[in-house]
Amino acid sequence: MTIPELRTRKAELLKALESVASSADLEAFKLAHLVRKGSIATLFDDLKTVPKEVKPEAGKLLNELRTAVEEKFKEIEITLASSQKPKSRQLDLTMPARPITVTEPGHKHPLATTLDEMVEIFVNMGFDVAYGPEIEDDEHNFGKLNFAPDHPARDMQDTFFVKPNSDWTPGSKEKPVLLRTHTSPVQVRLMEAGNLPIRAVMPGRVYRNEAISARSAACFYQLEGLVIDKGVSMADLKGMLLSFAQQFYGADSKIRLRPSYFPFTEPSVEVDVSCYICGGKGCRICKHTGWLEVLGAGMVHPNVLRDCGIDPEIYTGYAFGMGIDRTALMRYGVGDIRLFAENDYRFLRQF
Ligand code: PHE
Repeated sequence: MTIPELRTRKAELLKALESVASSADLEAFKLAHLVRKGSIATLFDDLKTVPKEVKPEAGKLLNELRTAVEEKFKEIEITLASSQKPKSRQLDLTMPARPITVTEPGHKHPLATTLDEMVEIFVNMGFDVAYGPEIEDDEHNFGKLNFAPDHPARDMQDTFFVKPNSDWTPGSKEKPVLLRTHTSPVQVRLMEAGNLPIRAVMPGRVYRNEAISARSAACFYQLEGLVIDKGVSMADLKGMLLSFAQQFYGADSKIRLRPSYFPFTEPSVEVDVSCYICGGKGCRICKHTGWLEVLGAGMVHPNVLRDCGIDPEIYTGYAFGMGIDRTALMRYGVGDIRLFAENDYRFLRQF
């Protein structure tokens, strides 16, 4: 194969294409020259035997030849196709529709599945579902929940503040708004609304200015619960939580209450559920304790009731709040909490 030979070959092939008059001719051309064992592919094979000095030029020419032929081929293909179209396309409106085949139907996010299952259990126990804003004010997120003015949770270190307007500076009259650090402000909103008795769960997203790691995110989900009525006691809280644990974590689940502290409940407890992976024997997931810490709870503090316009001499109530993300982590054996928010299709399609 020499350079002049290649030039002639290119001219010949293009000329042959010019004379193609039907799609059958075109198909024949393709089979002879453009397929994997066609004449152009053979020319590429022959390139191996070309002397070293001419190889670069021959290679370049050959590539040009192939591109030119392919482009011309497409051009002719399009011309032929359009000339073969029927003049006026007849639409048959009675033709049955093609079935829609869904190979990968959409589905719920694992966090949504977990949250929805929890909410459903409470709805079946007679709870309403309520929502509140994610952008809150200090009053609802802290003040009316009995947080002292100097409580460390109000610190910039924990809370994301949002300037109320562009020229706001610390010390301005207007109070900054903030991203709620828990779902407890929705409790306040429900109590302020004053439709007693209250029996509600409040799911939602919360934000904390935390170092992001495999175990903690700056944005996560909580499920809050609130029951206010005459004669509500700690025993009601305990019975309800046990029932929830047995429905959600398994019929053999046990719970245990440990004393704790929250400004808005008194007494306050931390609630553990027996590890549903090992049944309480001790495993890696429960760090060999047999227990998983699942929520915070307590009797609503009289100050909170009073500040929300409810007489603590007449009404009592309990509240609880649990994190959703870590529950979902354990449930689905996910190793890193950040995966829930990354929207990586390879991760999401597994659920
Ligand atoms: N709001 C608390 C938290 O985020 C949880 C909680 C809710 C505790 C209700 C007691 C009662 O940690």
